[in-house]
Parts: sequence; structure tokens; C-alpha cells
Amino acid sequence: MTGIKELLLSRIRDVADYPTPGVMFKDITPLLADPAAFAALTDALADLSVRSGATKIVGLEARGFILGAPAALRAGVGFIPVRKAGKLPGATLSQAYDLEYGSAEIEVHAEDLAAGDRVMVIDDVLATGGTAEASLRLIRRAGAEVAGVAVLMELGFLGGRERLVPALDGAPLEALLTV
Ligand code: PRP
Ligand code: MG
Repeated sequence: MTGIKELLLSRIRDVADYPTPGVMFKDITPLLADPAAFAALTDALADLSVRSGATKIVGLEARGFILGAPAALRAGVGFIPVRKAGKLPGATLSQAYDLEYGSAEIEVHAEDLAAGDRVMVIDDVLATGGTAEASLRLIRRAGAEVAGVAVLMELGFLGGRERLVPALDGAPLEALLTV
């Protein structure tokens, strides 16, 4: 394990039985509160974005905003928020997706993405892959190209990678940690 992985892992707190019994929640707030760890994470995500040739970074509400916005600044590219439905004031594209129980919907301002953009999606966690997969649909529906998906951690036992790889169509899925 490299130094950065050890550093990041050491700043993620396991919280048992949150938000529901039987779930082990991965709390990133200790990492965000440590400027050395947060800077290392930001640099790693920005580096992945630059190497992918991304011209824009999409962050997925809410925790993807915290990681994606500083990575975009560091990479020197624009930051585009993908929000939960009903939060963006302008003309939006919407994408619904299934959850274990029920469904959810995310949106992006249609004017923020266009043909010629190469977009890296950044989020904290890849779990089932449903949120990230829906974001890829939004990016492509806007006419833009997917540069890849980068997450701090992948919950390998939930099968998100298997779901996302076909949707990525050859673009990379980068997980700094697999837990
Ligand atoms: C969490 C996490 C990812 C998503 C992963 O977001 O931050 O965005 O779930 O799950 P999936 O791979 O199964 O789609 P959530 O909306 O729960 O909370 P947040 O608003 O705090 O980011
Ligand atoms: Mg989230």
C-alpha cells in the first residue's frame, strides 16, 4: 500500500449501524478536517482528471461537491454540480434511477455541458453505482464525452464496478481505495 492510501484510509471513520442497523458508514469528515490528507486527496483527484484529458469536472451532490470543487480548481478546469432534483434554477436535464427501495433523480444545468467537453465525474463513494451511472447518462445526453469516474473509495462488495464499467464504454473508473 502506498503512503497516500494509508493516509487516506487512516482518516476515514467507520460508524457501525448508520444510517440503519447493519450498515457500516464510511465517514470522511476526519479526512476533510486534516489539511494534509485533504490536500493529498485533492491532488490525486486533480491528477487523475488532468491525465484523463478532462475539460470539466462534475461533482455529485452532496459529498462529491466537497471533493470535486477543489479538484477542479487544482486541475484548472470548470466545476459543474449535478444536483438532486429541484435545486437548479435554470433549464435542466433530469435523469431518474432506481434505488434499492424507490427511485431518485439528479439534474444538471443543460447549458453547463456541451459537445467538445470531456467530463470527469468525482464522488466520495461508489456503492451500487446507480448515482454515477445516471450522471454518465446526463453527460452524454448533454452531448459531452465521458473522461472517466474517480472516487475516493469503492465499496467492492456492492458490485458498483460491474454495473458502471459497461456504462463507461472504455473510460476509466478510478478508485483511490477499495474497501
Ligand atoms: C452516497 C454517496 C454516493 C452515493 C453512492 O450519496 O455519497 O454519492 O451514495 O451510492 P450508489 O453508488 O449506490 O449510487 P448520498 O446521496 O447517500 O448522500 P450525500 O448527499 O451525502 O452525498
Ligand atoms: Mg453522495
